[in-house]
Formats: sequence, structure tokens, C-alpha cells
Amino acid sequence: MVLKVALIGSGAIGSRVAELLDAGYAPGAELTGVIPHGHAGTGFSFEEALDTADVVVECAGVAAVAEFGPRVVSAGRDLLVTSIGALCDGSLRKTLLDDGPGRTLLTTGALGGLDAITAACAGGTVHSITVESRKLPSALIQPWMDDETKKGILAATRPMELLRGGPDELIKAFPKSTNVVSALALAAGNWDVVEAVLIADPAAKQTSHHVVADTSLGTLEIRVTNQASRGNPASSALVPHAVVRGLKTLANASGSFI
Ligand SMILES: NC(=O)c1ccc[n+]([C@@H]2O[C@H](COP(=O)([O-])OP(=O)(O)OC[C@H]3O[C@@H](n4cnc5c(N)ncnc54)[C@H](O)[C@@H]3O)[C@@H](O)[C@H]2O)c1
Repeated sequence: MVLKVALIGSGAIGSRVAELLDAGYAPGAELTGVIPHGHAGTGFSFEEALDTADVVVECAGVAAVAEFGPRVVSAGRDLLVTSIGALCDGSLRKTLLDDGPGRTLLTTGALGGLDAITAACAGGTVHSITVESRKLPSALIQPWMDDETKKGILAATRPMELLRGGPDELIKAFPKSTNVVSALALAAGNWDVVEAVLIADPAAKQTSHHVVADTSLGTLEIRVTNQASRGNPASSALVPHAVVRGLKTLANASGSFI
């Protein structure tokens, strides 16, 4: 049986997912259409996606998860989310993860090691998880910053810590930098143990994440440095491959979790 896939979003990640699916990187999965942004384009619509697709893949941002996600799962379709930061919202999280009948599936995205962290947190006690993320200063400028703050960040000649706090603080101040911290909180099953440290690093060539999970079953330390995606310097080239790998697993149950 073919797994029919609809996409929301055709930016850096969505367009690459479409290319990879069309090129056969997920045997058994087939792209049925891409839902256009707003009223642009003709042909494929969200309603058509619900009629034809087994899984709707969100590659469009946190707002699109809130806009489309509940309708996907309530229609009994599966939703594969890349903008995991959307699940910082407790009410949306409950709707997507608990209400069904469709399932909400989360890509591993730009991060590795989430399987081991999930297992350690489920089987033992999680003491703390910290994630230090380094990005180019220009990628961290926010609309709420005053001119002086922006200038200071852009002129930094050494790494500058911009935030240290939990997912709630991060989503308010840096809403586009919440995917990794949300993924870790979901892996831990606990939103209070994760601390994010966000650093503007003028020497950063790529975005990097250094995760340390301290649990009763051991300490897991993960370092990831992501190549930027070709279409969006703020996005990671790994993410479309993580999405397609997830779709391949859904389409072909191999019995392997590797
Ligand atoms: N999980 C992770 O590790 C991870 C890493 C990087 C990015 N992401 C997420 O992936 C998302 C997409 O990243 P990208 O680099 O492709 O961004 P992008 O800006 O290149 O593309 C986003 C696309 O979505 C479209 N879009 C936005 N709202 C829409 C809507 N309501 N309906 C239909 N289309 C809509 C835009 O028009 C655009 O084409 C990001 O917003 C981010 O939240 C997740």
C-alpha cells in the first residue's frame, strides 16, 4: 500500500522534501500535493489533502501547526510536524498529542540522539537537560529588540549569551529558535527540566547545538553542527532528510529503529 503524503510549506525544507520524495528516497511514499500559502496557486487545497493523504507534513512554521494541525488529526489523518516549537503551547500540545483520532508525529529534525534521551527519561529519572545553541548574530535579531540592542549583537566580536531559560522564556523572546528545546522537553516528557542557552557567536559558521542530558541511567552528551540549507541560511539541510527518513519508516515497517 502506498503512503500518500501532502505538504504544507514549500520553502527550504518543504521543497527539498518534495524533491526527495519525487526522486524515490522514501520507497512506498508518494507526494499527492503541496498546499499553497494563502490563496496563491490553484489546484491542491487543504480539504483535498484531508481527502487524499494519509499523512500531512507541516514544513511551514509554528503558526501553520496551530492553523492546520488540529483539523488534520480530528479528520483522522496523521500529522508530521517539523515546527515542534508549536508544542510549547500546552493547549495545542494536548489537542495534537492526545485527542486523535489521527496521530501527531514529530520529526527528529536538526537534532540526533532523541531516541536515547527518550528511553533514558522513560526508564529512569531525568535530573536536567541543557541545550546550548550557537547561531550567527544576524540570525538572532528579533522585532522586539531596540536599535541599541540590535547594534550591540551585530557588533559582537566574541560569543554573547542572549538568553538562559526554559521553553516558555525562549518562545516569548526567540520564537523561531524553539524547535530543538521543545523536542528535548517532549523526549523528556517534562517541560521543567530543560534549560536553553542561546548564544550569538560571530565565529559561528553554522548553527550548532550542545545537549547534555543528566539522567539516572547515564549522561548523554550530543553535539550537532548543522549545514545551513541552501534556500534558507536560518534552516538546516538535515531536516528534509529527517522528514523523508520518517516517511520511509512509516511507509515500510522494517522492524528497525536505526
Ligand atoms: N525540527 C527542527 O529541527 C527544525 C529545524 C529547522 C526548521 N524547522 C521548522 O521548519 C519550518 C520550515 O522551515 P523552512 O526553512 O522551510 O522555512 P521557509 O521560510 O524557507 O519556508 C516556509 C514555507 O512555508 C510557507 N507557509 C507559511 N505559512 C503557511 C501556511 N499557513 N500555509 C501554507 N504555506 C505556508 C511559506 O510560504 C514558505 O514557503 C520552520 O518554520 C521551522 O519551524 C524545524
